Amino acid sequence: MSIMDSLKAKAKADKKTIVLPESMDKRTFAAAEQILKEGIANLVIIGTPDEIAENSKGYDISGAAIVDPFTDPNRQKYIDKFVELRSKKGVTPEAAEEMMTKDYMYYACLMCKCGDADGAVSGACHSTGNTIRPALQLLKTKPGISSVSGFFLMEVPDCEFGDNGLFVFADCAVNTDLDSAKLAEIAGLSAESFKMFTGGEPKVAMLSYSSMGSAKHDDVTKVADAVKMAQERFPEIEIDGELQLDAALVPSVGELKAPQSKVAGHANTLVFPSLEAGNIGYKLVQRLAKAEAYGPVLQGLSMPVNDLSRGCFAEDIVGVVAMTAVQAQLASE
Ligand code: ACO
Repeated sequence: MSIMDSLKAKAKADKKTIVLPESMDKRTFAAAEQILKEGIANLVIIGTPDEIAENSKGYDISGAAIVDPFTDPNRQKYIDKFVELRSKKGVTPEAAEEMMTKDYMYYACLMCKCGDADGAVSGACHSTGNTIRPALQLLKTKPGISSVSGFFLMEVPDCEFGDNGLFVFADCAVNTDLDSAKLAEIAGLSAESFKMFTGGEPKVAMLSYSSMGSAKHDDVTKVADAVKMAQERFPEIEIDGELQLDAALVPSVGELKAPQSKVAGHANTLVFPSLEAGNIGYKLVQRLAKAEAYGPVLQGLSMPVNDLSRGCFAEDIVGVVAMTAVQAQLASE
């Protein structure tokens, strides 16, 4: 069974309600038909009757709840919540109403915040920034977490490394200013994500161009400091570094470059030192090794909200909805 098949099965076992705000995009409806047919999640689609009629032609979405943001009976409740959360940032009732109806992602996040949905998925026709900003502003981080980050669940075919080719790569999507403290936090969140999605035991490598002090530079010190912080903060998780990629993945190289490390040569959770490295790294593996790259999945938010690539296919939306539903199951435990 592929990792996605097992995530879909998990999602079906305890169905959650996921909001899809991109009713302006036909892929939303192709995905919705499949999600409803397979019973992966209950769906709410946000859109006006015209948007829904225009873009859902040919798809059976009769099982979805449709919410028109202009006539929804819950609309005032969401405006009030928006103002309650953001009045200090200057959001008035008028501004809230305008933002919610111009950008349905705000509406989707307010539905989550008010307990009317368990998670949201968007980004097929919005940039990463525009997709996740409403979630950062309205849903905020989980208690004790300072930064939301984005990971990819990588499934590499015919691969003897990681957990039979399964990996979590982070941060590949969000933080442009990674310091040691953020990297340490990402190590803990990524380990949790690896466990949640694969069921396996995470082994976290903090990546660098140096292994255990082989090179000296501020960039190396940043990662070495992050390793110390992460090991102190998450003593129950196997975290080590700084490690070069080959030392992290390949047992013979790990043995040579970091012989004392339990992670070197066996890593399945890779924390990259910068957003550039993470974003380029996952795309290299996706394109050159023909890996499946599921994500970016956001970790550290108080409720699950996830982004899509603008080049995504309907099938990708189905996968990200399944992952969001699995995150929602854990959030409600
Ligand atoms: N975690 C938690 N909260 C955050 C984070 C974070 N990582 N970043 C910003 N916030 C909060 C801020 O504190 C602020 O809250 P407030 O309004 O209550 O004070 C709110 O979010 C907005 O913050 P801004 O600083 O105004 O953030 P901005 O809107 O400029 O950008 C964003 C945030 C969108 C995450 C930005 O960092 C970004 O664009 N990152 C890169 C995204 C990207 O382009 N990724 C690569 C493509 S993805 C791919 O290839 C798959």
